[in-house]
Amino acid sequence: MNKSLLIALLIVQVAVAQNQLLIPTTLSGKDINLTLQNGTHQFYSGTNTTTMGANGNILGPTLILKQGDFVNFKVNNQIADITTIHWHGLHVSPENDGGPHTTIAPNTTWSPSFTILDKAATYWYHPHLHEKTNEHVSKGIAGLIIVKDTEEAALNLPRTYGIDDFPLVIQTKDFDDNKEIVVPSNSDDVVMVNATIDAALTVREQVVRFRVLNGSSMRVFNLGLSGNQTFYQIASDGGLLSDNLPLTRLRLAPGERAEILVNFSGMNGQTVFLKSYASEFSNGIYGATNPGLNSMMTLEGYNPNPLNGSDFNIMQFNVDTATATPVTAIESPLVTVTPIPEVNSDVSRTITMSPVAMGRNQLNGNFLLNGVSFDSNVVNETVELNNTEIWTISNNSAIAHPFHIHDVQFYILDRDGNAPPPIEQGRKDVILVKAQETVRFIAKFDDFASTVPYMYHCHMLIHEDGGMMGQFVIENTLSVEENEFSNKLKVYPNPSNNTVHIAIEGSLNIDALEVYDQLGRKILDKKISFNDNLIQVEGLSKGIFFLKLNIENYIVTKK
Ligand code: C2O
Ligand code: CU
Ligand code: CU
Repeated sequence: MNKSLLIALLIVQVAVAQNQLLIPTTLSGKDINLTLQNGTHQFYSGTNTTTMGANGNILGPTLILKQGDFVNFKVNNQIADITTIHWHGLHVSPENDGGPHTTIAPNTTWSPSFTILDKAATYWYHPHLHEKTNEHVSKGIAGLIIVKDTEEAALNLPRTYGIDDFPLVIQTKDFDDNKEIVVPSNSDDVVMVNATIDAALTVREQVVRFRVLNGSSMRVFNLGLSGNQTFYQIASDGGLLSDNLPLTRLRLAPGERAEILVNFSGMNGQTVFLKSYASEFSNGIYGATNPGLNSMMTLEGYNPNPLNGSDFNIMQFNVDTATATPVTAIESPLVTVTPIPEVNSDVSRTITMSPVAMGRNQLNGNFLLNGVSFDSNVVNETVELNNTEIWTISNNSAIAHPFHIHDVQFYILDRDGNAPPPIEQGRKDVILVKAQETVRFIAKFDDFASTVPYMYHCHMLIHEDGGMMGQFVIENTLSVEENEFSNKLKVYPNPSNNTVHIAIEGSLNIDALEVYDQLGRKILDKKISFNDNLIQVEGLSKGIFFLKLNIENYIVTKK
């Protein structure tokens, strides 16, 4: 190589543009006002791209909410299109959830108000109008929600926003020749963090916390640091973990969040890259060389794309001197995480993911849940209030789908029968179900019942808009007093083989127990034995039975 060529190469290296990472502003307190608006943003300096944002041209402010606060929101829609705003991961009533039924007409304001019941973690908000979610999110409406609580406050963690605690909204987008955002698209070859391409952030020589959201429409990331530097996960989607988890890789699918700590101590002057090690993905995941399990399966627009199946930089950290009062140690342990025991389950349901048309071309079509496409007039599942349920999600397609459910945080029981890896043992609201895989999770559906449905769906927005979504309502068939009694009763196992146990917490006088079948026939010939606080019903044949207990003049019915 001759000398002049070498110099030219060096100049190219140095000339790679770095853009200072945009840090969204914050809103906190008990009155949160958001205005959804159209605007322009310079992803490329000197070129305006048409965008949407909340309280600005792109993305939205980070909402900092306190557990226990009753918060009044006002969401004013100025985007000249119907939309909704959904609080992803928050446990709120269906009316406040901002799903596809809770539309905000142009030039109107939606005013939900609710108590923040969630644990300290990182949540997010985004539009959710059916068939428009991808457009409104890809054009820019998305923001983080940081929930704070006393448990988190008691820990020695970095928590000064913009100093040692940073939001990182990672997205990929496709731009056309005029630098306008193309949506929908499977040619998302531009990676950005907080709407900043080639982003650089100056961090201090200490422990720094990052709240990472995969806000992409489709792409899964395999996060890691350059040089395989260890980082520490401290929170999953819906809460802190029991202890910090040292990692070199963290797979994050669309909709998923993770809070991580990076220890930059002793690294003053150095540069660290946040990367996606997508070369490590096997086939059958959006982000791998082949998005389908079978390499013959192609997805229109997907290839060629330099991001597919290769390792790439997401952004860079430039390490500077420490702040005056730095956090210098990785906190351990964190909080007590109490997963729901499997025996608490009242009901099991199965959701099967499948392509509309099986076969080689399946990735280019829509996907179904339990064989049907989303129909806003059809309620797919009915959940009884206070049920603890096991949901089995089976992926009968050739590509991994991130399954998301509203209302609850869940605990993963297993993946294909195997206990989940440590990074999936916390509270979750999105789970990537790989091609041909079966995942089971358990969740409790408490507090909110309504005729307004909640959604469950694939969080790959082309799939979601294409109908890979279902809805469930939570039904409360009991009066307030009856609910109180019902909570004291645990029926297990449910479903059961032919013996049902009814355990009573505390003291209740049971006057009568009646068992009915689905046709309303009384089944009194079954053996019933009373034994302290446990009632055993034996000899039931297959079917759904209703137990009717007359307790202190209240009648409680359980399926
Ligand atoms: Cu993040 Cu139903 O959505
Ligand atoms: Cu959600
Ligand atoms: Cu999907």
